[in-house]
Amino acid sequence: ENGTHTGTEAGTGQPGLSPADTAKNAAACRAVDFVEDGMRVGLGTGSTAAFMVRRLGQLVREAGLRVTGVPTSSRTAALARDEGIHVVTLAEAGWLDLTIDGADEFDPAFNLIKGGGGAHLQEKVVATASDRMIVIADPDKDVAQLGAFPLPVEVLQFGWEVTQRLIAELLEGQDVASRGITRRMGAEGPFVTDEGNFILDLHLGRIGNPPALALALNQIAGVVENGLFIDICDVVVIGHPDGHVTVR
Ligand code: 5RP
Repeated sequence: ENGTHTGTEAGTGQPGLSPADTAKNAAACRAVDFVEDGMRVGLGTGSTAAFMVRRLGQLVREAGLRVTGVPTSSRTAALARDEGIHVVTLAEAGWLDLTIDGADEFDPAFNLIKGGGGAHLQEKVVATASDRMIVIADPDKDVAQLGAFPLPVEVLQFGWEVTQRLIAELLEGQDVASRGITRRMGAEGPFVTDEGNFILDLHLGRIGNPPALALALNQIAGVVENGLFIDICDVVVIGHPDGHVTVR
């Protein structure tokens, strides 16, 4: 599907938002148009996804839309419940009609880098248990080649230093521009994911072969999941700072 739509035409314009938030909100509201009554919907994580959860909540409360939501993080679960969305586990839902989530980068093949918010493990499990994944993004995330955004890799805490060394060795044989690796930190020490793991951020600059890298990373025993989403995303909804939307 291709076309442009404006958030305000859809009745979703919100005065007082910054241009960046206007873009996120416009993409989020347009993506929610894909949600039909009775659907089971995967709820992504991040600032763009939060606009989507709030819009869905608004439709549940004000228009009586019936949806079942499966959140991809504890943060999104809390927000969805606050918004009055019926929240269940992925096991309870069984399978999803649609997942709507943000991304850190998307390329022309709709391959993604995700995990800037540290939730890509649950996000990938939920997205791959869905008939369709819709990514909501702003134009800054539209890239010719993935890799400027550091690639998040979730690793077990157990032996993480060895896992980091094995990743560094693996990167020697990969088509990437640079090879720095940092452990993600939070306010009070190492960042710990909802699943109790650490995140290593791979500073690659350019990823020449995303499918090959994604496969190779997941061969390392201490790697739980990498943030490359290969052949998972079906539709990208791009919100612009003036409120108009492009659907690809
Ligand atoms: C979280 C993610 C997010 O979707 C991604 O980081 C984009 O976030 P934002 O919408 O805040 O830019 O993958 O793990």
